[in-house]
Amino acid sequence: MSALPDEMATARLRLRRWRESDAEELRRVLDDNDAHLRPWIPFMKDEPRSLEATRERIATFVQSFDCGEHHRYAIRERTSGVLLGETMLLDRGGPGTREIGYWLDRAHCGLGFASEATAELPELAFACLGVERVILRCDERNTASLSVARRLHALPIGFEDLIENGQPVRLVVLERRRPLAVGPAR
Ligand SMILES: CC(C)(COP(=O)(O)OP(=O)(O)OC[C@H]1O[C@@H](n2cnc3c(N)ncnc32)[C@H](O)[C@@H]1OP(=O)(O)O)[C@@H](O)C(=O)NCCC(=O)NCCS
Repeated sequence: MSALPDEMATARLRLRRWRESDAEELRRVLDDNDAHLRPWIPFMKDEPRSLEATRERIATFVQSFDCGEHHRYAIRERTSGVLLGETMLLDRGGPGTREIGYWLDRAHCGLGFASEATAELPELAFACLGVERVILRCDERNTASLSVARRLHALPIGFEDLIENGQPVRLVVLERRRPLAVGPAR
């Protein structure tokens, strides 16, 4: 096993662990996307933060990544470097499990960027973190997110019923398990 990389590239994207110097850009993208993200993203209940609080939050991402706990990456357009969103492997769901999360700037949805950014995360979690499974938890009304989860070949395994802002919310839990090691034929 090895640590997760600080930076990764795909055909169109660059994923890089958050740095405190990203705070102003993150602030701008979150402010531009408040209405788009708020219904689906739990951390939006604490937004909008000040720039200083955003910097402090990124400092917690840096610390957590260094401890091998939550691994959160800024998603940027590969050539221009424009900030498009975020993807993450969170230490949630119990031992041997990581939870994949993601969000995109609304102007960059419908182009396959979330699927491209997350495509390698399950294999990385199996190889680098040694986990047995990755899970995703999507509001059952969030069809775009459920499609990303399905493109990751994650299968529904159950539901979680929550109350959020006094309203019932049903999350679909999807799972992709580490493939069984195939031994030599006997
Ligand atoms: C969830 C979210 C990231 C999904 O974004 P998305 O753009 O639909 O997902 P992708 O980037 O993978 O793009 C897939 C779409 O692009 C299309 N597409 C275009 N070019 C593509 C390409 N080269 N590769 C793959 N898909 C492509 C696909 O057909 C698909 O569109 P469709 O759903 O109309 O069929 C986005 O809706 C979002 O940020 N929502 C708010 C936050 C959120 O809900 N996060 C998840 C919480 S569980």
